[in-house]
Amino acid sequence: ASSSRLYHSNVIDHYENPRNVGSFDKTDPNVGTGLVGAPSCGDVMKLQVKFDASGQITDACFKTFGCGSAIAASSLASEWVKGKSMEEVLTIKNSQIAKHLSLPPVKLHCSMLAEDAIRAAVKDYKEKQAEANGETVEA
Ligand code: FES
Ligand code: FES
Repeated sequence: ASSSRLYHSNVIDHYENPRNVGSFDKTDPNVGTGLVGAPSCGDVMKLQVKFDASGQITDACFKTFGCGSAIAASSLASEWVKGKSMEEVLTIKNSQIAKHLSLPPVKLHCSMLAEDAIRAAVKDYKEKQAEANGETVEA
């Protein structure tokens, strides 16, 4: 109804049919968990990525407590990270997510949340790997 005038069909599709909703075991050494929040609205996004031995992301899932744009951004991010390496996913920008979903300016922080979540998930995975190797990593 009125939302279809405000929002692009890609947002509505990802909102109504979110991909990859769920959780992985966060203690799994191959899983990176990113949990981030948006201070401006209080929304929270959890994105998890699973790496294979070659450092490729084989699977991803998310849980988001937030607005439709945040859910759509998480869903899109969980699709985009699959099959990519750590270096590749770190190049995903919130502006690309916002553009794909045609988010209005007031909703840009929702896509920022998705970029933050990807970075946090990679950082968590790196820390786990380093810990397993008996190293410490700089943030
Ligand atoms: Fe937080 Fe959108 S303002 S749900
Ligand atoms: Fe806050 Fe969307 S994440 S309004």
